[in-house]
This record gives sequence, C-alpha cells and structure tokens, in this order.
Amino acid sequence: MIPHDPSKAQVDPRSLVFAGRDRELYQVITATGYVPDDQNFSDFCESLKSGRPWLISGTRGSGKTAFPEALASACNLTLCVVAGRDGLTQEEILYDWDREEQEIWMRENLAIAKGLPVNEQSAFLESARIKKWQREFLILGEVGLAYDLAAKAADSESPPPVLLLDESDKFGASIEDSLLMPLERGLIHIPRYEGGFIGITDRSMRPIVVTTSNDLRNKLSSPFVSRHVFSSFATPSLEKELEILAARNPEATSSQLALAIKLLDAVRGIAGLEDHPSIRESIDMSSAFTRDSVGDLDTQTLRRYLCHFVKSVSAQELLRLQDDYLVSSATAYHPIVDQWLAARDTEWAGQWGLSSTPETCI
Ligand SMILES: Nc1ncnc2c1ncn2[C@@H]1O[C@H](COP(=O)(O)OP(=O)(O)OP(=O)(O)O)[C@@H](O)[C@H]1O
Ligand SMILES: [Mg+2]
Repeated sequence: MIPHDPSKAQVDPRSLVFAGRDRELYQVITATGYVPDDQNFSDFCESLKSGRPWLISGTRGSGKTAFPEALASACNLTLCVVAGRDGLTQEEILYDWDREEQEIWMRENLAIAKGLPVNEQSAFLESARIKKWQREFLILGEVGLAYDLAAKAADSESPPPVLLLDESDKFGASIEDSLLMPLERGLIHIPRYEGGFIGITDRSMRPIVVTTSNDLRNKLSSPFVSRHVFSSFATPSLEKELEILAARNPEATSSQLALAIKLLDAVRGIAGLEDHPSIRESIDMSSAFTRDSVGDLDTQTLRRYLCHFVKSVSAQELLRLQDDYLVSSATAYHPIVDQWLAARDTEWAGQWGLSSTPETCI
C-alpha cells in the first residue's frame, strides 16, 4: 500500500465526475505527465459513475499500470496494489489470521482460566475462543485493505482508495473467483470474524478498482470480466502520442520529438516486424535524444539507439537492413507530426514553411 499524504488535500474523482466536472479530473491527471486517451478517459468516468471496477486490456507499454498510478498521485489517494503472478494466494490478497498471536492469546487465557473458580472456567474460555477471531488478529491483504479503507473513508467522508489489480491474466482461476464477491457486492465475508465481513456495499463509496490485463497468460473468466466496465488501450494517434512525449519530456526540443516519433512511426510501418514499439519505447527514445542532445540522425546514431526499441534478434536483423529508410523517414517532412509541432513552435513552422495555425500550410 502507498498511503496518501495526510498533509495535502485530496481530490475525490467520483465527486468530480458526479458533478459533471470530468474535464477538471482530466486536467488534474495530465498535470502528472500522464495524458489519457479521450475514449479511455470517458470509459473510466463511466466506471466511476457506475461504481464498477474498470478493466483495461491492451498491449504492453500502453499505459495500463501508469493510469491508476497517475490517478492516485494526482488526487492524493491511497494506492493498494496486487501484482499478478503465479502462486498468488487468497490469504495474501484478501485476509489471513495471525495464528501465532491467536495461539499466544489462547495460552494466556488458559493460564488465567486456571486461576478462576471451576464453575467460571468454561464460560471464560468460551468467550476467549470467540475473541480469538477479533479484528486485532486479522491481517489484511491489499484487496482486504482497500475495501476496509473505503469503508473507513466513507465514515470520515474522505475519498476512497485506488485498488490496482495489475496483470490479472496471471491471477489464475481461484484468485479471480475469490474476487467475485468483493467486486460485485463490495464485501469480503470472513468466517468466524466478529464483524462477519469487511468492505462497503454502497457503490459510490467503494474503492476505485482498476484491473489490467495483457491477455497473455490466462483467459479471464466471464464472471470476472462481466463485473467490470471494459476498455482497450491501443497505440494512440500520432497527435496524442506527441502530446504524451511532450508531457513526459518537457525539456525535449521540437526536433527531438520529431525524430523520435517519425522514427518509431516508420518502424511500426515495417512489414514483418512482429513486436511493434509502444508508448514505453517512444518515451524512452525521446528522453534518450533529449538527454544526449541529439538533433539529427544518421545511420551510426540510429544504430546506437536501436536497442531501445528492437528487442529480438530477428527484429534487429530486419531493421538493420532498413537503416537508410529509417533515417530518411525520421528526418523527412511528416504532415501530421510537423503540423502538430508547427502549431506550438513558430521556429519549427518557419523551418518547414508551415503556418503556426494548425492544419494550414503557407
Ligand atoms: N498516456 C500516457 N501518458 C503518459 N505516459 C504514458 C502514457 N501511456 C504510457 N505512458 C508511459 O509509458 C510507460 C509504460 O506504461 P505502463 O507501464 O503503464 O504500461 P503497461 O500498459 O502497464 O505495460 P505492461 O503491460 O508491459 O505492464 C510508463 O513510463 C508510462 O508512464
Ligand atoms: Mg503494466
């Protein structure tokens, strides 16, 4: 769990969305450097309003994990995280009992009982056995904690935490099944526990649950999927990608942004390449160009940076044959990229003979 900062104000994303202030929430998130896709953001707002968890599927490096992280940091919300992996147990994510403490408790009470009159002993021990299942001995996992914090936040009228169920395709059937009840009812039933359950049924106060999946390891069960509002994260449009690169690398010059995006756009267009570079790689490229003050590209420079976005032997061989094509694509005029940059940079507009009014050539 990453707790919120109690010395700073919190923003409740649900309240903003219910008040029709979606754009304000969008801006709060973009201030962290994360630029959500418009359709995805609209889906997220739907999930907030419905109180349903949000399931994001999509390619690696498309910003699935970064979205809930940006949300929690932008709104100063506590973030609980379950990272999918083989062998994850229900006890780890929901709750477990502190058996050692329970044993100590019973031993202490047995000792006390021995000092009591015989006719009082059994009632005393009976009560001690019931108290063995009290809150004190309950260890909450990240999911249990998120639902418990949401219930407490509702009592104190503060915003709920964010629960990130990351890479859920690695959870496996039994973990998915154990999440069905909390995701649907907002409750985790705990046998023998004095309170019976933890969590909160009111959907408008439940944790903000974001579930991600790469759809690689296991197919998610349909009851698990059906509890969510669904979005698919794809590689964004070039304009959106430029916005993201500029937000992630505020120091980058227009020529560094142009080189990075034109290069990766050309790589994505190469037939026969199995694994296309994602936003992760384009951010890495533009920050490498910015860090090393690269302003132009030749084949030698290109080869130095290939390692950032070519990650298999076959792709390496394929792209090395296309050196010249990639260099010329990265330095040639690109209508979408150059007009986007020209609208923000008059020098760039002048260099390419473009108007700094978007979409218009001189
Ligand atoms: N829309 C975006 N705005 C700003 N940064 C982004 C955006 N999308 C992705 N990124 C950045 O790209 C990188 C990869 O994102 P992230 O780790 O969230 O991808 P992912 O979809 O979870 O990938 P994986 O499936 O491999 O876990 C991060 O540094 C993230 O901040
Ligand atoms: Mg991820």
